[in-house]
Amino acid sequence: STVSNFDFAPNLFPLSSSAAPGYTPIGAPTTAAHQNGGVGGASLEKHKTLTYMNGLGLIIGLIIGSGIFSSPSQVNANVGSPGASLVVWVIAGVLAWTGAASYAELGGAIPLNGGPQAYLSKILGEMAGFLFTWVAVLVLKPGSAAIIAIIMGEYLVRAFIGVEAETINPWVSKSVALVGLVLLTFMNALSTRLGTRTNDMLMFLKFIALIGVTIVGVMVAITGLSYSGPANVEWKTHGWFEGTSKDGAQWAVAIYAGLWAFDGWDNTNYVVGEFRNPGRDLPRVIHTAMPLVIICYVLANMAYFFVLPAATINSTNTVAVNFGQTVFGPIGALIFALIVSASCFGALNSQTFTSSRLVYAAGKEGYLPTVFARIGLRSTEPGLSSTRTRSWLSKRLHTMLGDEEAGLFFTPVNALLLNAVLTIMYIVVGEFGELLTFYGVAGYTFYFLTVLGLIILRVKEPNLERPYKTWITTPIIFCCVSLFLLSRAVFAQPLKTLVVVAFVLVGIPVYFWRIHGRDQVTKREIGGGEAAPSWKFWKRWTN
Ligand code: ARG
Repeated sequence: STVSNFDFAPNLFPLSSSAAPGYTPIGAPTTAAHQNGGVGGASLEKHKTLTYMNGLGLIIGLIIGSGIFSSPSQVNANVGSPGASLVVWVIAGVLAWTGAASYAELGGAIPLNGGPQAYLSKILGEMAGFLFTWVAVLVLKPGSAAIIAIIMGEYLVRAFIGVEAETINPWVSKSVALVGLVLLTFMNALSTRLGTRTNDMLMFLKFIALIGVTIVGVMVAITGLSYSGPANVEWKTHGWFEGTSKDGAQWAVAIYAGLWAFDGWDNTNYVVGEFRNPGRDLPRVIHTAMPLVIICYVLANMAYFFVLPAATINSTNTVAVNFGQTVFGPIGALIFALIVSASCFGALNSQTFTSSRLVYAAGKEGYLPTVFARIGLRSTEPGLSSTRTRSWLSKRLHTMLGDEEAGLFFTPVNALLLNAVLTIMYIVVGEFGELLTFYGVAGYTFYFLTVLGLIILRVKEPNLERPYKTWITTPIIFCCVSLFLLSRAVFAQPLKTLVVVAFVLVGIPVYFWRIHGRDQVTKREIGGGEAAPSWKFWKRWTN
């Protein structure tokens, strides 16, 4: 029976299946006073509020979303044995780790909000940075947020109408997804701390859930008992590697499924500009998060195999719910459905937080209209929207809550709104499979380019101060493997790839239009001279 209207277990390339200081660019004089300023002089980077713990919450919060609770079926069905599945999980995890370690070096050396936008601008030229932002802001971030939100809705609805239900009207789960998204957007707009606190809490919940799965799995293995009677003993009677597939293509597809579950390892890089000590904390965050997640994923998978027969695992897209059902009965299924939807809620929260910072950074560079770089509900800079035009509602809100620096609403409100509107669009009209394919191809193209950029930067600027330096093998491994995965996807679905290429190309005229506009304004306001986006500034400061 179909349990879902869409695929619960996203696979990054499904169709290839054989089965620094901030800066206000527009209209702002480039004085020292403004280098830390956002629009209206307010800036997120001026208040370095993020700590090591917050960084962990952001990265783990996004990585542990739906994948580990639903993708194991795709992995196991393709490689054919539990042992090989575990190997795939380790491979996908280590690949993600090499990517993340490379990003840690870049983030330490170029400590600006916006992540790859800043790195690509500095290394490959501003157009590359712009095109990344073009694709990320318009598609990658809202698209993947929509995927996570829809999965969250599905699990939550399922928890209430019963996990056994045949099909759910997609609009019911989409509505739940929309409510969740609006709630998170509001929380993140209200206060930065509210956003990060929620993140930290949900991160612990996820760990508890995965550790819980492991403990329960081991208990079932030891006692040999489960709700429905004698437990699964397959893992005792069959060899762990019995039936392993020898088909490279199947392995690749299995790895793609694993990659979705590990995706999000770049998340902390978008907010590096708000870290108290990015050079020290970013690498620490990444080297804590990645091994922890890999270990948790491998243990959880072992637990699944202890409890569920391979045939069940292969045929379900809701492994965690089946796990709960088998061990504890209907209550277990309900609890696990709730856990997975909470986990997605947390992932959506992490993503909302960082996407808004990417939009904000893009606004500051002039890639997007400057309103998106605004902090809080009103602008204090004359010439932008003045206090006179504030609506009655916003005046009331200000009286009630205040928007003192670093207080309530000291957040990139407009950036959050743009992100929410785009995500809502994808939730409403998006086709799940299409979204995912686009995400896989475009996302990995930019991961590849960024990590390649690390290697180029090592050659171009060997003496650049790098608080953290990874082994040179790390980016090389990541580049080779991701190029291989990408090229496979490209050959398997040339048409889809063309859509991605076309979308990137459309960004080029937009780039010239935005940059021309920005430079004109700069000339008018400060009397000639080049516009100075923050990555250029930062270069002047450090070299
Ligand atoms: N790893 C997450 C999950 O398993 C998905 C992350 C998607 N990536 C992103 N940048 N939003 O649900």
